[in-house]
Amino acid sequence: ADGLKLGLAGIGTVGSGLLRLIEARRNTLASRAGRPVEVVAVSARNKRKKRDVDLSRVRFVQTRVKLATDPEIDVFVELIGGEAGVAKEAVEAALRAGKHVVTANKALLAHHGASLPALAEKHGAALNFEAAVAGGIPVVKVIREGLQGNDISRVYGILNGTCNYILTLMEQEGRGFADVLKEAQAQGYAEADPTFDIGGFDTAHKLALLTSLAFGTRTSFDAVYVEGIETITPADIEAADDLGYRIKLLGVALRTDSGIEQRVHPTMVPKDTAIAEVDGVSNCVAIDGDFVGDVMLIGPGAGGGPTASAVMSDIIDIARGHVLPAFGIKAKDLKPYKKAQMR
Ligand code: NDP
Ligand code: HSE
Repeated sequence: ADGLKLGLAGIGTVGSGLLRLIEARRNTLASRAGRPVEVVAVSARNKRKKRDVDLSRVRFVQTRVKLATDPEIDVFVELIGGEAGVAKEAVEAALRAGKHVVTANKALLAHHGASLPALAEKHGAALNFEAAVAGGIPVVKVIREGLQGNDISRVYGILNGTCNYILTLMEQEGRGFADVLKEAQAQGYAEADPTFDIGGFDTAHKLALLTSLAFGTRTSFDAVYVEGIETITPADIEAADDLGYRIKLLGVALRTDSGIEQRVHPTMVPKDTAIAEVDGVSNCVAIDGDFVGDVMLIGPGAGGGPTASAVMSDIIDIARGHVLPAFGIKAKDLKPYKKAQMR
């Protein structure tokens, strides 16, 4: 069979993780995907930057939009980030050219969750974003495919690895907020601007995507109530501990009689619950469906390896010809978002 040719924009934490994964799976990828898969061209901000991945066999394309529409590629893999600017321009250009798109960019999809899927469908392209929610946990697949027979009433969880890492190390090792944040950045967990993590906005981006997947509604990032963890002090963590609780940054989406409620805020979670045990960079997502009951997924929420694993699953789906609408149902059939009256 013909090989699937990838154009990769962004060779930072996730992009280089993907290149390493493809190299590690060289002997088995073709059989898993049903055809060979190879990166033929890459793009990044700085061509001359020293990188610890081998780029000797790929073309470097300086302009992202040129890479997105490159005649040789079948799939544009966007691992740059940002809700606007180059990532948006390049993704739109790729979809208009009928290229499949795989992205880890939750900010982009949370803000353009109606227009981009519609554009993809118009041009017969996939728009896959497994890595955009909860890093290595394959939750998009679980909701989009595994739980389609259910009416989902609630989806919630720990959706930001950086925040959970900070809260865990503050509690377990008595470390300071700023010190642990720096370490999370050095590990490649944090966003380019970590305000998105600690301010709760990254959790809100992911929650907006989960809401759309779970309830079949158009994304509405603006409807999310957002509070971050910047003001949490060691004294707060200690007080919660004394009372038998841990503090976790949760994203919660509920279907109510008056509409949908989406909120992100630090929450006191009883210590004897599974969610309280989710430590370090791990995330968890809980989904309540009417026929299945309660499902909970736990796993690594950020980092090059776990995120590359999720990106790869999207690529393999495309190689196999398994192309679904971005949010599981056609963009035109997504219901308008109705905000619940907040309690
Ligand atoms: P990095 O900052 O590590 O890498 C970003 C890459 O994009 C770099 O290669 C950079 O080029 C390139 N880039 C940045 N700005 C531009 C630009 N203007 N034009 C062209 N290229 C540009 O980010 P991550 O790998 O951490 O994140 C990438 C995406 O994945 C983001 O959307 C992020 O939210 C998402 N994500 C990240 C996770 C993680 O754990 N890190 C987990 C899940 C999702 P150069 O190398 O030359 O500087
Ligand atoms: N900055 C994000 C986090 C990356 O810490 O969860 C994964 O989406």
